[in-house]
Amino acid sequence: MKMFGKLIAATALAAALIVGCAKAPTEIKLGGVGPVTGEAATFGDSTKKGLSLAVDEWNAKGGVLGKQIKLVFADDKGDPAEGATVYTKLIQQDKVTAIVGTVMSKVTLAGAPIAQAAKVPMISPTSTNEKVTQVGDYIFRACFIDPFQGTVGAKFAFADLKAKKAGVIFDVGNDYAKGLAENFKKGFEELGGNVVAYEGHPSGTTDFKAQLTKILAGKPEVIYCSDYYNDDALIAKQARELGYKGPIVGGDGWDSADLVKIGGDAVNNCFFTNHYAPDATTAAVKTFVGGYNAKYSSTPDALAALAYDAGNIMLNAIAKANSTDGAKIKDALAATDLDVVSGHVKFDENRNPIKSAVIIEIKDGKQVYRTTVNP
Ligand code: PHE
Repeated sequence: MKMFGKLIAATALAAALIVGCAKAPTEIKLGGVGPVTGEAATFGDSTKKGLSLAVDEWNAKGGVLGKQIKLVFADDKGDPAEGATVYTKLIQQDKVTAIVGTVMSKVTLAGAPIAQAAKVPMISPTSTNEKVTQVGDYIFRACFIDPFQGTVGAKFAFADLKAKKAGVIFDVGNDYAKGLAENFKKGFEELGGNVVAYEGHPSGTTDFKAQLTKILAGKPEVIYCSDYYNDDALIAKQARELGYKGPIVGGDGWDSADLVKIGGDAVNNCFFTNHYAPDATTAAVKTFVGGYNAKYSSTPDALAALAYDAGNIMLNAIAKANSTDGAKIKDALAATDLDVVSGHVKFDENRNPIKSAVIIEIKDGKQVYRTTVNP
């Protein structure tokens, strides 16, 4: 009899467990990806912080579809192969509803086909290479693209800095740097400028003197460098060591607190195109900078701002879709019409938002907002 009682209790427990499992999940899992370690670790750190802030704010307001958002954040280490691995893990193991990521174009280009094949909607906060959203209709981004960014840099060098001769240096193993260098060159030549040297270097280079010597032989009035901040800082240092005092212009990959730490005085008289300026006075920027600073005691860079924006765009789309179904979220994403920190987001037919760029000057070791350029 005792035995029988135990059996009933065990059966009841098993039944309760089954019912418990069958209940709809009480949370929505959102995947996040960024390079928290590796060659551009400040990118991942900022991205994780910006995205976490957005998720916390939604959760404090009651979540999405009445459920709390659980952020599952993975480190892609700035490496395409690692990126593919973590995208697969987030989709197959964690079963995330959607993904915000990743940061570097070369890594996003490895992850996006996996999300597309699994029909998991994703939005890259910061990958500016044109090819990223061409992967398919589940792939969006929260930033402008490099054909625009390169043209803005070229116009700034030509019209504002009055440079007629430019030297270009870039990482040949980095899709972003390579594409942006091409876009700058095209834009500068179309304006009537002359590219006196166009020098690619292998990934991982730390001594750029050979390329810089060739560039300086052409007597450029500006050097355009489309790499990430670690390279940019070393290139600026070595160019100064070789006697170059003129301006160096670059793209959003310059944005890191480590740029000045590594480059020191050499990065003064440098300028770069970016997505937002933390010293802008719009209400959206002020509120975001205040909230971020209260949480992390630091000023958010463009990566943090775009991760925050991308998180908001995605969570807004899930709410609008009123569903966690990938196809429905994708359609809601495509219909986005939202004010965010970095501007207003509406997607074109290639799932790219049309947004303005800002030009940042590095002056006395500080980032100073210079101007805004509209598309
Ligand atoms: N745009 C860069 C890329 O596509 C990433 C990046 C964005 C880096 C913004 C810094 C700031 O690879």
